[in-house]
Amino acid sequence: MNNALFRDLKRLTAMVEPAEWMHSDGWRLGYHLMPPIGWLNDPNGLCQFRGEYHVFYQYAPFDPHGGVKFWGHYKSADMIRWTQCPVMLYSDNTWDIHGVYSGSCLVDEDKMYLYYTGNVKHPGDYDYITTGRGHNTALAVSEDGMQPVSDQLLMENKDYPANLTCHVRDPKVWKQDGKYYMVQGARTKEDIGELLVFESEDKVNWNHINTITTPEKFGYMWECPDLYEVDGQWILAFSPQGIERDGMRFQNIYTCGYFPLYGDFRGEYTLGEFVESDFGFDYYAPQSFLDENGRRICIGWMGMPDADYTNPTADAELGWQHCLTVPCEVHYENGILTMNPVREIAALRADECEMQCSGVTAAAVNEMADVLFEPCTQEWEMILHDCLKIRYADGILSMTFLNGGYGRTERVVPVEQLRNLRLLIDRSTVELFANDGAVCMRTRCYPEGSGRGLEIHGDGLLTTYRMQSIQIIKEDGK
Ligand code: FRU
Repeated sequence: MNNALFRDLKRLTAMVEPAEWMHSDGWRLGYHLMPPIGWLNDPNGLCQFRGEYHVFYQYAPFDPHGGVKFWGHYKSADMIRWTQCPVMLYSDNTWDIHGVYSGSCLVDEDKMYLYYTGNVKHPGDYDYITTGRGHNTALAVSEDGMQPVSDQLLMENKDYPANLTCHVRDPKVWKQDGKYYMVQGARTKEDIGELLVFESEDKVNWNHINTITTPEKFGYMWECPDLYEVDGQWILAFSPQGIERDGMRFQNIYTCGYFPLYGDFRGEYTLGEFVESDFGFDYYAPQSFLDENGRRICIGWMGMPDADYTNPTADAELGWQHCLTVPCEVHYENGILTMNPVREIAALRADECEMQCSGVTAAAVNEMADVLFEPCTQEWEMILHDCLKIRYADGILSMTFLNGGYGRTERVVPVEQLRNLRLLIDRSTVELFANDGAVCMRTRCYPEGSGRGLEIHGDGLLTTYRMQSIQIIKEDGK
């Protein structure tokens, strides 16, 4: 903080970030958060602070294919109009010199406590799994929500249990029963993924009090854990690596989902069945927070690390890659977690159009749209912008690319009865919510050619809205 490296990184970031948000690039998103330039991955530090919503994210402004990660920053009073704030955390300390990795924000005593993983890769002939890497737990404090006033190292690898590799990261912190709790994802030396639970009285000194894992190995690493109670049910959400595809399950290279947790995460617990949170191509590392109205709100990264499909915007002349999902409200209903866009998003709707479809119907759908469909039959399909086919037949909902998938092919999910469908379409993204958010499929999508609109084969009630762009304002730091 405030050393020569900090000052240089800040200056360099300002040099590459565009002064104004440009909408000339046809893939740029109208109402989803994306990086001003370069690369974005996980959402970090989600919170509401003094009434305003804050979204931090893994940000590598110098390279659209990823580079040293900082914490980029947006804030908003209403989750619609966002302000781009100066980067909150640069990799400017010895303990985070190769990246300010993911973490969370605890709002306490009217301050932001930003917990993160400092990544260090020592030069040498290391495998960077069992040797050569430092994964440090660190804490930055901000009094105004715009810049840190302190930054300190809390724990390093030697402070974690001895059976672990160097991979221990992504602290999620919250307050409960007058104490503070932290969970971190870890990879053991036997290549088993697990969750470490820490407790603290003062937010600075942490004790490892429990380890949560499965009786049978479930992947080799658990990234980005999130542990919370919603509607009376404890949920252990995380992004495991190393789960092999099994028929229609685990179709992506890395998985993302949750275990219902019964008992007490601090002591005796049991885990229910693992449920995937998304069945599309691009969804990973989601995080949630409780807002001041008591809503559990979740945001995910619309990307998939190490996937064999790509995004054309990473090309040199466009120079950016990836985006976040819209914020979703989370509930636990009838034994399942549901996610639906926060109601604020509906304020972006314009030009409502309702039509009864039968046979083949062509509907005008804008490049930014909110589409609702209530089918009358249990077999139908729709083709969006001549590019993406969404089909429901034989109890299976599928997403198939006709073109513009950049390596994305098909994803499928069994759904017993499909009652309703919502599509949030935003130039190069589609977020699909079926059965009131019980099943989600998110994908990036790059329509080619001139065919725009929605072709529906089947009967049902279709409601479409054009979605308005959000205006991102840029706020300079002091
Ligand atoms: C998940 C992840 C995290 C890590 C971050 C680094 O996508 O690998 O585990 O903290 O990204 O950018």
